[in-house]
Amino acid sequence: MNKEKIIIFDTTLRDGEQSPGASMNTGEKIQIASQLERLGVDIIEAGFAAASPGDFDAIEKISQKITKSTVCSLARAIDSDIKAAGDAIAKANKQRIHTFIATSPIHMQHKLKMTPEEVIKRAVASVQYAKTFVDDVEFSCEDAGRSDIGFMKEISDAVIQAGASTINLPDTVGIRLPTEIGIMIKTMHEYIGDRAIISVHNHNDLGLAVANSLESIINGARQVECTINGLGERAGNAALEEVVMTLKVRSDVFANFETNINTKEIYPASRLIANITGIEPQPNKAIVGKNAFAHESGIHQDGVLKNKETYEIIKPEDIGLDLEDTIVLGKHSGRAAFKSKLDKLGFVLEKDELNSTFTRFKELADKKKDIYDDDLRALVTSEMTGVEKEYELVAMQLMDSTGGVPSAAMTIKHKDIVTTDASIGDGTIDAVFKTIDRITGYQGRLLDYKVTSVSKGKDALANVTVKVTFDKNEPAIIGHGLSLDTMLASARAYIGALNSYLSMRGMLKLRDTDSNKTV
Ligand code: KIV
Ligand code: ZN
Repeated sequence: MNKEKIIIFDTTLRDGEQSPGASMNTGEKIQIASQLERLGVDIIEAGFAAASPGDFDAIEKISQKITKSTVCSLARAIDSDIKAAGDAIAKANKQRIHTFIATSPIHMQHKLKMTPEEVIKRAVASVQYAKTFVDDVEFSCEDAGRSDIGFMKEISDAVIQAGASTINLPDTVGIRLPTEIGIMIKTMHEYIGDRAIISVHNHNDLGLAVANSLESIINGARQVECTINGLGERAGNAALEEVVMTLKVRSDVFANFETNINTKEIYPASRLIANITGIEPQPNKAIVGKNAFAHESGIHQDGVLKNKETYEIIKPEDIGLDLEDTIVLGKHSGRAAFKSKLDKLGFVLEKDELNSTFTRFKELADKKKDIYDDDLRALVTSEMTGVEKEYELVAMQLMDSTGGVPSAAMTIKHKDIVTTDASIGDGTIDAVFKTIDRITGYQGRLLDYKVTSVSKGKDALANVTVKVTFDKNEPAIIGHGLSLDTMLASARAYIGALNSYLSMRGMLKLRDTDSNKTV
């Protein structure tokens, strides 16, 4: 039987990045895009090119790197956005521009302050302009979930006529029930027929994003927009892993459909994104949560020991999770074994990255007996940020606060200059951050601080995520630090954020100089 393809459109790098605290630097975005390609997603929405020079740069670099998946940029229905999107993806092997305008009465009246006729005109002009850059144009009726179906038919006719080949109908505010979404998709699918592919983009405000996406497939949608770990604006988007695994596990219901996803890359993708964003999926999150395959009650454990299928509907290995989680390597492991393990985990490292990661691995193996796959994933992710390490921590000594004044003494290298200084603080972490500020001359303002443990055991690695602003006019920067010692991980995270900030600022200056040249 010929199965119908469900196109998986991943928006982790765009809508996912809109999750509070999830911003990523260019190097991290490239790592994620490469993993999404290995996962087999059809379309990677790599960002919103007009949003910032950082977004543009990341989309441009992803376009140069990705060959199998289509690379897409979002654009509002305005010329400058569409031009930025077209320019950013120009070097991609397969390119798409995704343009959108709101179609609900509340958005048209209060946000856009435009009449429905003006909205249609703008949408058509935008699709026509986008077609001058690429063949593949997607048009979204933003807030379709609260839009009038007659109006959506009218605007769809017009944009299809202008050249759009995908019509996306987002439940932007996540308000619809599966039955309601089903009716909307069925109606639009019957109306549009094979003139365009119907896509859905469901938000999870009521926890219904995945259910709504599945109901949409049943009713004619052939593209699903989703994110790894369900990241996204507010309560997030439909989780890719849940949509895909439901299609697979319930192949009795979804017998006519298939995706291009290699499900064994789901767990690696989930870990990569959690490590980079510092946003861990909730422990009981379906498919990728820490407890998704844990059997706690005696009755369940007994059943699983006798026959796994008594309580397990998914095999962990189907999502690429090795529960035995192999004590992979130890301090005697050589570079070849290390590289071959990283190859198996799907990491492709340049020579320099391999050298620095191997050095970090050796340091770790000296102190930590068992090194698990998840430790290696976190280690590689923290080394491969793609950001130049302007400042590097050389040494750190702390005085704890028991009865005394918390203080930190640190040695930091900047280019070839090595500086040592010390500071006191309200607590040890405060002392560490103040010392870094003193040495580097930057005054960071800490907005968020989070520690999670990687893998298991008392000697688990600490993964610290900080959110810092170094300039009140610039967006907050995320930094990550990994170490067996939480304070050391904190210092690395803070310095990492500073390095990201400096690299971003350098890029902005470069762009300014470039544009000055052309004026
Ligand atoms: O939620 C939404 O409506 C969006 C659009 C830009 C597709 O993210
Ligand atoms: Zn969205």
